[in-house]
Amino acid sequence: MTKAKIAILISGTGSNMAALLYAAKHPDCPYEVALVASNNPDAPGLKLAEAEDIPTFAHPHKGLTREAHDEIMHDAIIAAKADHVALAGYMRILSPEFVGKWEGRMLNIHPSLLPKYKGLHTHQRALEAGDSQGGCSVHLVTAELDDGPVLGQSPVAVLPGDTAETLASRVLIAEHQLYPRTLANYVSRASSPEYLVAQVRERALAMPEADEVTSNGRPWFGTIQGHT
Ligand code: GRF
Repeated sequence: MTKAKIAILISGTGSNMAALLYAAKHPDCPYEVALVASNNPDAPGLKLAEAEDIPTFAHPHKGLTREAHDEIMHDAIIAAKADHVALAGYMRILSPEFVGKWEGRMLNIHPSLLPKYKGLHTHQRALEAGDSQGGCSVHLVTAELDDGPVLGQSPVAVLPGDTAETLASRVLIAEHQLYPRTLANYVSRASSPEYLVAQVRERALAMPEADEVTSNGRPWFGTIQGHT
């Protein structure tokens, strides 16, 4: 199995990075961690990655334009031969250039059930709204903040007396389950029957007068001339 090579970007604790990294230790995990990089040289997660013999890179953003800093991170990711980027508590808004370079190959984890509560203070906002559930989402990164296609979500029940902190700590447990699994599914989607059918469907239905029927429980695509 050729494994996808992941660069994980962090700014702080890096508990999601640790979850991704420990999941990657299983032989059947379809990705490996090629790099842990940060805009914060003091990010505690860097020490953990080093202890696990994962290459690390840090470059502070202070004094640099967003584009210049993103380019430095991009070069480090390319030097590590990573083919996907996993944002894990990376507290930087990314330039459109950087997002464009990693389109379809960059994931993020966000502590809410998107599209609810993009941005910060997600747990507090869920509690103030009286939601019965908080949760987390893994999504593809697009130019719009916390807005790309959602790849996976885990709801987490709100308990009586929850504060933003108590809810956040349970959501974090859910994040650690969701991110490795969703990343693994995403990088291995080319061998998933559902993904392959969806690809065929997209191309087939783009043809003039194309339609889809089900035959023996399987999808068939064709035009009015006949199905193939
Ligand atoms: C997590 O809650 C994640 O959803 C958000 O930032 C936090 C990072 O925590 N994007 P950690 O550094 O992974 O512990």
